[in-house]
Amino acid sequence: MSGLFITFEGGDGAGKTTVLNQISDWLKESGYSVLKTREPGGIHIAESIREIILNKEHTTMDGRTEALLYAAARRQHLVEKVMPALNEGQVVLCDRFIDSSLAYQGYARGLGIDEVYQINQFAIEGCMPDVTLFFDIPPEEGLKRISANDEREKNRLDLEAVDFHERVYEAYQLLLRKYPERIQSINAHQDIEDVEEAAKEVLRPFLLKGK
Ligand code: TMP
Repeated sequence: MSGLFITFEGGDGAGKTTVLNQISDWLKESGYSVLKTREPGGIHIAESIREIILNKEHTTMDGRTEALLYAAARRQHLVEKVMPALNEGQVVLCDRFIDSSLAYQGYARGLGIDEVYQINQFAIEGCMPDVTLFFDIPPEEGLKRISANDEREKNRLDLEAVDFHERVYEAYQLLLRKYPERIQSINAHQDIEDVEEAAKEVLRPFLLKGK
């Protein structure tokens, strides 16, 4: 594959989606062909799975069911959208990927990071991101931002207790230590322009490699 696969990760309300949009504009202005997408979703089948997972009425959903549904959505999205774009040499910007499953299902839900990694390997067959940006913001701060955003409808995972979001944050710290080369931390607790600049700084060397 000749493209560049960049994933955006962080707790809810970390601002990663806003920065992803800005990075996309910046890359396009610099002449790159960019695919902007998100998980779970990005294509019809995976968006349908997203609706099932995040439906607030699905309060009885088992943790393993949730993990398998995220992995299924990931598989379809990868095969239908991400891999073809990478094969064409595009820069793929994906809002969340495997690390979200490791953090939310593996650690915060307690299913085990290694176990969730295994089912995801079945789904992705080794197609890992070239680089992952982790937007670092204390969970209470992220949750405050979500509550202040009236336009965002709260989903089933937003409604989890604060300690769930704290575990998600702890999990990302573990993942940063586990994958120090792939996952790069960005301080998201600063002005959005500074967050955007910090993200560009991390990405420049990958773009220069001319992948
Ligand atoms: P979003 O709000 O960033 O679109 O993501 C939807 C929710 O799904 C968010 O709370 C994080 C969660 N999620 C997981 O729990 N596991 C995953 O593998 C992914 C991709 C998202």
